[in-house]
Amino acid sequence: MSKKRIREIIRVNQAGELGAIQIYKGQLAVLKNKPIANDLKDMLSKEKKHYDKFNELLNSYEVRPTIFSPIWKTGAFGLGVLTAILGKKATHACTEAVEEVIIDHYQKQTQYLRGKDNNLAKITKKFCEEEKEHLDFASEHDTGNDLFHSALKKGIKLLSKSAIKISEKA
Ligand SMILES: [Fe+2]
Ligand SMILES: [Fe+2]
Repeated sequence: MSKKRIREIIRVNQAGELGAIQIYKGQLAVLKNKPIANDLKDMLSKEKKHYDKFNELLNSYEVRPTIFSPIWKTGAFGLGVLTAILGKKATHACTEAVEEVIIDHYQKQTQYLRGKDNNLAKITKKFCEEEKEHLDFASEHDTGNDLFHSALKKGIKLLSKSAIKISEKA
């Protein structure tokens, strides 16, 4: 049944990278004139490369994108706007929370794919390393330890995990 699982992996990763793009776009819409904008743009350009790659893979593996793309697109943009408005800590907290989930997700996929689809495993491993750079960048900043920011991070992680589960299946 590895073919089915591989299709799920490609579908969910394309959706996830779209979500990442939208989060950074949402944050940039609010913070475009702030010093953080350059870092957000750097991360955005990486996510665009990831997204392009998974779009290519959708085509070559003949996988259709998740039907939830429009919802993820709007939701992730909104999350970006919201966290940017909440402030610096929330902006970094969002990246930290999302990337922690994505890194774990890419690591599990890479393990699964080894020996089954080594080319794809190479891609998920490389992207995982690049997501780690985003996580490190966020973690270098104060992402807040108070009740509010802790709850925010938990909430974003839960949202990300749910979006992953849903996108794998449809
Ligand atoms: Fe990415
Ligand atoms: Fe990232």
